[in-house]
Amino acid sequence: MQKEIFKKFMSDKQVVAVTCNQWGDTGKGKLVDLLSNWADVIIRGTGGANAGHTIVVDGQQNIFHLIPSGILHDQNNKINVLGRGVAFDPRVLIEELDVLVQAGLSINNLKISHQAPLILPYHLLVDRISDKQQKIGTTGRGIGPLYTDFTARHSLFVNDIFNKEVFREKLTAFLQLKQSILNKLDKEQAKEVLNHPHLENGIYFDRENILNIEAIVEKYTGQYADRLRDYIVDLEEFTTKAKQDDKHILLEGAQGLLLSIDYGTTKFQTSSDCAIAGLAKGCGLRESEVDYVFGITKAFYMTRVGNGPFPTELGGQKSELYCASGNTKDEELSQYSGQVDKLLVSTDEFEQGVGMRLLGNEYGATTGRTRRAGWLDLVALKYAMQFNGSHLTLTKVDVLSKLAKIKLAVKYKYTGEDIFYAGKKITKGDELDFFPRFSEILYHCQPIYREFDGWQEDISKIEDYNNLPIQVKEIVDFIEDYTNGKIDVVSVGPDRGQTIFKI
Ligand code: GDP
Ligand code: IMO
Ligand code: MG
Repeated sequence: MQKEIFKKFMSDKQVVAVTCNQWGDTGKGKLVDLLSNWADVIIRGTGGANAGHTIVVDGQQNIFHLIPSGILHDQNNKINVLGRGVAFDPRVLIEELDVLVQAGLSINNLKISHQAPLILPYHLLVDRISDKQQKIGTTGRGIGPLYTDFTARHSLFVNDIFNKEVFREKLTAFLQLKQSILNKLDKEQAKEVLNHPHLENGIYFDRENILNIEAIVEKYTGQYADRLRDYIVDLEEFTTKAKQDDKHILLEGAQGLLLSIDYGTTKFQTSSDCAIAGLAKGCGLRESEVDYVFGITKAFYMTRVGNGPFPTELGGQKSELYCASGNTKDEELSQYSGQVDKLLVSTDEFEQGVGMRLLGNEYGATTGRTRRAGWLDLVALKYAMQFNGSHLTLTKVDVLSKLAKIKLAVKYKYTGEDIFYAGKKITKGDELDFFPRFSEILYHCQPIYREFDGWQEDISKIEDYNNLPIQVKEIVDFIEDYTNGKIDVVSVGPDRGQTIFKI
C-alpha cells in the first residue's frame, strides 16, 4: 500500500464508516483493521455475534464476532467501543477477551454502551428452535428474538446486569410474558438446545419452566457483571467528547445492506438496519456526522450464507439446497481438492460455483457453512448504494485472476406469474432494471449478463492503481458508469497492506 496516498485520502475526514453493499462477508474486518491505523476510536453499532470479521496480520488469521476489528492495533492509544445498537452477548465478549488476554494483548481500552440490549438464554433457545420452522438459516446467535423483544419493549439492557434486584425483577416479568411460548416447546428438544456450549451447557435448564431464572440471574449479575463493570460508558457522552477532542472515529458495520431489516430481501434478513443510517445510530452518532462511507463490495463475484433469493448464484436452487444441507469446508476440500481449474470451466454452473467458493475460500467465519457464490450483481449493487452512498471499495479483486471471462449482471428477466410491485404489474418475460426486494419476486429473476475479458496476471502485490491490468480497469470503469458511483479503493489480498487507494 502507498502510505502517502492513504494519508492524503484520509486527511480531510474525521468520522468514517465501513458498510457492506451485499449479503455480508465482503472484507469489512480487513478494511476496519487497516483504517484502525488512522482511527483513535473504533465503534461497532449493529448486529451481534452473528458477524464474523476476519483479520489477517502477517499471515495469521483472527476472527472476531463482537469485539471491534480495531482491537489488534496499538492498544494503549486506540479505543474500541461496543455501541448501543449491538445485540450484546456477554458470554461471547468474555470469550473473545480471554483469547486476547491469553495472547498477551491489553484490553483496557474497551468501552461498552450501557444502553445495548442484552442477549438472554431465551433468545438463543428460541432462535435455534424457531429457525427449524422458519428456515432463514440464521446463525443461531439469538439476534431475531432479541431485536423482536427490543421493538416490543420487552428487552433487558447491559445496565441491568449491575442491578441484581432490577435484573431479577425484569427477567421474571420477561419470562412470564414468554411462558406461553416456553410451554409449547418440546422439553427434550429445549434441553438438547440448552446443552449447547453457547448456552453454557445446560446450566439454565429447568425441567419445570425450561429456563431457570436464578441460574440466569447469578451468571449475568455475578460473573458477567464482575468481568465487564470497568468497561461501561455512556455512549453519547463518549462520542460527543471524542468529536470535540478532534479524535478520528471509525464505525464498523456488520452484515450487509441486502440483509438489512429495512432494505434486505424479505424474510431472509437479519433484524438490524445494516445501512449507514442504522450503523451511525447504533454507534451513538447521527448519519450526517459521518464524513465518508466505505461501501464494501466483493468483486467481481458475491456470496450469501443462509437461505433466500440470490439471482446470480451459480447453480441456482441446487447450490442453495447444497449449502443449506450443512456441507463443511473439510468435506468440500476433500471431495474437490486439486480440481479448481476444471470446476471453473465446467459446463455445469453448480460446479463453477464450487470452483468460485474454493478460489475465494468462501466458508462462514461464524458458522463454518459453505457460502453460496455467484457473479457480481450490479442491479443489486445500484440498489444498495441508494442507502449506503456512492463511494465503493472493491475487495477480493485478486480472487478471480486467471479466469478467461468475467460476467456482471446488468438486468433481470422475470420468469414468474404476473405480480404487482410498487403499483405496477410485472409479467413473465419482462426485463427489470431495478431490484425488487420482495423474495417472492426476486426468486423469479434471472440475471442478464454482460461479459468482460479476464486477466491472467497475479495482482496481489500491485500497489498503484495504474499498474492493474487493463481488463480490471475496464470493469471498474463500467461499474462506475453503471452505478453512477466512484470506486476509491481496490483490495487485492487479505493482508492490511494489499490495498490500493485510487486518487
Ligand atoms: P466481513 O464479514 O465482511 O468482515 O468478511 P469475512 O471476514 O467474513 O470474509 C472476508 C474474507 O475475505 C476473509 O477471509 C478475509 O481475510 C478475506 N479478504 C478480505 N479482503 C480480501 C482481498 O482483497 N483478497 C482476498 N483474497 N481475501 C480478502
Ligand atoms: P458479517 O458481519 C453473512 C445472515 C445469516 C442468515 C440471516 C439471518 O460477518 O458480514 P441472523 O443470525 O442474523 O438472524 O441470520 O443473516 N447473516 C450473515 N451473513 N455475514 C454476516 O455477518 C451475517 N450475519 C447474519 O446467515 O441468512
Ligand atoms: Mg463475515
